[in-house]
Amino acid sequence: MRAITVLPGVANSGRLDDVPEPPRSDGSILARAWALGVCGTDREILAGQHGAPPPGAERLILGHESLGVVEEAPAESGFAPGDLVVGIVRRPDPVPCPACAAGEWDMCRNGLYTERGIRERHGYGAERFRVEPDFAVKLDPALGLLGVLMEPTSIVAKGWDHAERIGRRSRSWRARELLVIGAGPIGLLAALIGVQRGLDVHVFDRNSTGPKPDLVRRLGGTYHTGDLADIDHLAPDIIMECTGAPAVVLAALRHPAPDKIVCLAGLSAPGKMIELDAGLFNRTMVLENQAAFGTVNANREHYEDAARVLAAADRDWLGRMISRRVGLDHWPEALDYRRDDIKVVLDFTI
Ligand code: BGC
Repeated sequence: MRAITVLPGVANSGRLDDVPEPPRSDGSILARAWALGVCGTDREILAGQHGAPPPGAERLILGHESLGVVEEAPAESGFAPGDLVVGIVRRPDPVPCPACAAGEWDMCRNGLYTERGIRERHGYGAERFRVEPDFAVKLDPALGLLGVLMEPTSIVAKGWDHAERIGRRSRSWRARELLVIGAGPIGLLAALIGVQRGLDVHVFDRNSTGPKPDLVRRLGGTYHTGDLADIDHLAPDIIMECTGAPAVVLAALRHPAPDKIVCLAGLSAPGKMIELDAGLFNRTMVLENQAAFGTVNANREHYEDAARVLAAADRDWLGRMISRRVGLDHWPEALDYRRDDIKVVLDFTI
């Protein structure tokens, strides 16, 4: 079967390969790939900056944003042929640490976790993949191709889960206003959840044209662009920072809102130095009871939250999130940055 493989650590080593069928040891559910979402992590792996092959292998099958159709599944797995399935990305560390032992592999404490398509486990970027029932999530069949948004939605669902847990530090807390910074797939999905939760949603992005302003307005949110300082008058209870751009991250952390909770969901490259009045920064955080946290990955509960979010969302809106579909033969095109791209997916059916 065909699969996208890469030599981790070696830039531009990605290629479409012929690889053996997925081994039974990957799980008892066999799925035919329908689609695969691509994101910045895949680009980093292809640039040789991230990722590791499975033990004993040289190349890694890429891909972690899966969507498949079940071909074979044991009766006791709860799956049947024809079901839509998404594979969870992370597997617990073998020790296991207290978090992994509790099913919270997204909070792994010893760093020995593995991740499909990223770290020491083959990914879902192959014509067929296998997955263990415990790491497979069933999707509303009506979602069809839109189910490929499941993995990024699970990432956002975790950010929401943790923000709300922090919010509960105060008995009177109720989130009313959300500020999302960065209208990429993660930011837009964060805004979607904000709207579903009944918040007044504001989204800031540097693009003033293209599909993003309209996507935010269709959700019922307010789109802002220009200078971040122009939205200092907003008093968000939650800020979701989804750009990872150092200056923007700092602006989010400095945003003057009492009791605010800042969720940092974007990865940045190291090396950018910015001057900071650490005393004033700390003083404001303390006097305003502000909280900031980072979030990565998702556990099974977040995938289940994500399945509910997608099932309740407007299908037309979700469809607009998928800005390009690329066939497997042309896979490098899926990794290009193009103007107006939101979520680009490899579609194994075209
Ligand atoms: C994935 C996460 C993963 C992280 C770090 C992200 O792109 O969505 O599941 O934990 O990369 O490897």
